[in-house]
Amino acid sequence: MAIERTLSIIKPDGVKRNLIGQILSRFEAAGLTIVAGRLQQLSRAEAEGFYAVHKARPFFKDLVDFMISGPVFISVLEGEGAIAKNRDLMGATNPKEAAAGTIRADFAESIDANTVHGSDAPETAAVEVAYFFRSIEICG
Ligand code: CMP
Repeated sequence: MAIERTLSIIKPDGVKRNLIGQILSRFEAAGLTIVAGRLQQLSRAEAEGFYAVHKARPFFKDLVDFMISGPVFISVLEGEGAIAKNRDLMGATNPKEAAAGTIRADFAESIDANTVHGSDAPETAAVEVAYFFRSIEICG
């Protein structure tokens, strides 16, 4: 399998509950390497731009309101099959449907406050990584 990079965001609910370390540990234990990362308070424009693909969806405003409700921890994960591996670790978007032992099953409170975001495909991973990080900020 190819070495990939994927974007991960620990959302405001995860940061507020001091879960950054536990979540990053899960990534590392699964063989993913954190090659870039920072804590950031997103502006409304930054959150709207990141989630522009969801602009027409009824949940868009609530999603953006939630994502700017506190700082997020944004990172780039690298490793074999990193995109799928991260999605397996996160579990389903809706925590009610997330498999036992996944991050969302263990920590998420609702479909909006679902603790983590991860890129869903190679094309979106490339766009999402570039949205937040310049190439010189990635230590791979
Ligand atoms: P995320 O992986 O960050 O991508 C978009 C987010 O929209 C998703 O996680 C959820 O937190 C949020 N969301 C809220 N309602 C829905 C929905 N019905 N379907 C998909 N995502 C939703």
